[in-house]
Amino acid sequence: MPIDSRLQTFETTWVPRLNAPLADAIAADSGDDRLAEAMSYSVLAGGKRLRPLLTVATMQTLGATFTADRDWRPVMALELLHTYSLIHDDLPAMDNDALRRGEPTNHMKFGAGMATLAGDGLLTLAFQWLTATALPVSTQAALVQALAVAAGPHGMVAGQAKDIQNEHVDLPMDRLRVLHREKTGALLHYAVQAGLILAGTPQAQWSSYIQFADAFGLAFQIYDDILDVVSTPAELGKATQKDAGEAKNTYPGKLGLAGANQALIKTIAQGQAALQTVPTAVDTDLLAAFFSYFDTKRVK
Ligand code: IPE
Ligand code: IPE
Ligand code: MG
Ligand code: MG
Ligand code: MG
Repeated sequence: MPIDSRLQTFETTWVPRLNAPLADAIAADSGDDRLAEAMSYSVLAGGKRLRPLLTVATMQTLGATFTADRDWRPVMALELLHTYSLIHDDLPAMDNDALRRGEPTNHMKFGAGMATLAGDGLLTLAFQWLTATALPVSTQAALVQALAVAAGPHGMVAGQAKDIQNEHVDLPMDRLRVLHREKTGALLHYAVQAGLILAGTPQAQWSSYIQFADAFGLAFQIYDDILDVVSTPAELGKATQKDAGEAKNTYPGKLGLAGANQALIKTIAQGQAALQTVPTAVDTDLLAAFFSYFDTKRVK
């Protein structure tokens, strides 16, 4: 299945716009040249920018206008935070990976100490950027609270803790779903939540969008784990065929490739169904198009 043309057009428009100010903005907010270099290295190495794209797409779906001066830093905060999670995920003490976003991992280039600090810097700068904005302080506070919950010890960090503790432990499916929801789903949940907050959508109207986000988040990790089996470093810009050797808990590991693909298809259908439950006046085609990122034909 090729990427939906609506998603492709959206990416072509927005990725350059989101990326353009990054190098200068990171440099301006860092007090040490080598640290700034290490932080920028991983952020600017590439990456699909799916999380900020999802925030902007959610804003657009709800009829909100993206105003660069006001919204760019808060929207890109999530990409800083996500990049920190990748730098730390790759460290020798965690997944011990040498390739990320098509380049040597941060610790291969800068050493484990500086890579740890580059991650620390990006994590903290993310929260600075949520508040370096003319948005109302109530909006800033809502974003800070939501990102802290998603990224912290009840979200991504909890999932990463479960991930490393349970290598060589065969988790039951329900606990694996929790692990995926935390380590990967939480930041994608936040990506959509940030769009809802920035659009000023009342919480009573959030649930369909959040169900969409949570299905997208689970699908995302199932697909990442499928790609670990069927793809190549040249295609992904990171190591492949690693999860089985490290005895990670994954859908392909537990259900086989075909079973994982069936679960992916089912999860996508649940996310699409959630989008059908928003008021008919809202055009959800752009959000629905994000599911075309998952190529369910990769598994024959
Ligand atoms: C990789 O995320 C980490 C996971 C949560 C599986 P992405 O696949 O979005 O990585 P980038 O940002 O494009 O490098
Ligand atoms: C990582 O999952 C999720 C994060 C929170 C970074 P993986 O360990 O499978 O991500 P990759 O495959 O290294 O990108
Ligand atoms: Mg990992
Ligand atoms: Mg990893
Ligand atoms: Mg992976």
